Amino acid sequence: MPKNNLVILKLGGSVITDKKNNRKKINKNNLERISKEITEAMSKKGFSLIIVHGVGSYGHVIAKKFNLSNGYKNKHQIQAVAELYCDLKELNLEVIKTIKSRGMDVIPFQQSSAWKSHNKEISNPNLDVIKNYLALGFTPVLHGDLMTDDKLGFSVLSGDKIVYYLARKLKARRVILGTDIDGVFDADPNINKKAKLMKIVNSKNINNLLIGKSIAMDVTGGMSGKVKELLKLAELGIESEIINISKSNILKKSLCGQKDLGTIIKK
Ligand code: IPE
Repeated sequence: MPKNNLVILKLGGSVITDKKNNRKKINKNNLERISKEITEAMSKKGFSLIIVHGVGSYGHVIAKKFNLSNGYKNKHQIQAVAELYCDLKELNLEVIKTIKSRGMDVIPFQQSSAWKSHNKEISNPNLDVIKNYLALGFTPVLHGDLMTDDKLGFSVLSGDKIVYYLARKLKARRVILGTDIDGVFDADPNINKKAKLMKIVNSKNINNLLIGKSIAMDVTGGMSGKVKELLKLAELGIESEIINISKSNILKKSLCGQKDLGTIIKK
């Protein structure tokens, strides 16, 4: 079980960008409000934090158009990869600057420059740099990324997979995934108005769920991709929560320790 005071927080791309409309546009209102909530919770509760942000419309559109998630296929993809990296940098800088403007000591860590993957899974990530930053009191900020891949040439890595690796290796005390819906539903809430929010998801009830596909363009699995990674964490004894951070104060309450705000993923 986790012993330390580390919280790992994912900021979904659907919340910080205009992912639904596939427009390369930052949702500034959400980003500013979220930054404020994080800063307030940290100064109230005093925990270590790693932030992993999704990329929303800054990554999924181009990744889908050039089929980047299935690895290297043709030379036209190379230019798209270069363009994607520029877009990710642009988004990441805006996220860092906005959170920093609230007085938080955030530091970017681009895992694609330091880690690689094998068949879409991170292989042996070196976490020394992140550990050093944490020890110095920084909040490292990572994001969904495109990695060089030993088998496929390159692969798309979701922020959810990064969260899984970091939480596992660093034994996070809490793992919070912020999205733009209230949690995991027992049916697709976009289609079925009677869909009910699940308070707890575990390996026993997961098979009864018909989790809907993301309405926005998404190459990394949307909600079902998240639940898959979080169930792996649950098996290791690390509980996590999926909450709606597009609504005011949910994130702050969650970071301050409240637990009934969305769906808990546990063993
Ligand atoms: C996807 O990251 C990364 C790329 C498409 C390069 P995520 O899967 O974590 O992004 P969101 O949260 O779904 O937008």
